[in-house]
Amino acid sequence: MIITIDGPAGTGKSSVAQLVAQRLGFDFLDTGAMYRAIGLEALRRQASLEDRRELTFVAQHLRIEFDWEKRPPAVKLNGEVVTHLLRSGEATRAASYVAVVPAIRELLVRQQQQIGRERPNLVTEGRDQGTVVFPKAEFKYYLDARPEERARRRTAQLRARGEIVDPAEILNQILARDQRDREREVGPLAIPRDARIIDTTALSQSDVVERIVAEVKRRG
Ligand code: DC
Repeated sequence: MIITIDGPAGTGKSSVAQLVAQRLGFDFLDTGAMYRAIGLEALRRQASLEDRRELTFVAQHLRIEFDWEKRPPAVKLNGEVVTHLLRSGEATRAASYVAVVPAIRELLVRQQQQIGRERPNLVTEGRDQGTVVFPKAEFKYYLDARPEERARRRTAQLRARGEIVDPAEILNQILARDQRDREREVGPLAIPRDARIIDTTALSQSDVVERIVAEVKRRG
């Protein structure tokens, strides 16, 4: 059974998907981590982020694997565990360049579909999971929240990590990223036709998890 959870950044998708997977005993696939890993490798190789051919070359010459024994699964880049490096500001920025390259998206979509075949009980999280990667998924969710709330959550997260941040700047970044995500030609952020939309603005993380788990148990 495949459960897809899509939506913009800052909706709590990743934590929710992880917790839902835990509750149901499913595997959890963080597809953003794959874009981030390619971004990290591009930075390491000093590739030009504006150059789609260079980014594609980088993506074609690396290996991304998940260690499914770990919860959440560890991400390996050419055999090296890089999980802890993927959420840095630099890798985040690089990933947003990687995510607009059609050839890279095709490559990752195929890899994600392969993972779906190998690990058939999966909660997968991203932007295009219910629309492009697993259009026949049994359960599809789209999490959303007001941009101001997403900026507030992101600011709190970064501050907790000890970073100095300007909330207004974070909001601007979120709005700009939303626009890029929705307007790209391939695999844009979109609401799957048959998805249930959950507005998380006024909900706690556990409210969202409970709602999804209850529904899957009821109908699954
Ligand atoms: O969800 P995230 O912040 O880890 O995603 C990192 C980047 O990858 C972000 O720019 C959105 C992009 N992404 C995507 O385009 N498609 C996905 N399925 C997952 C992430």
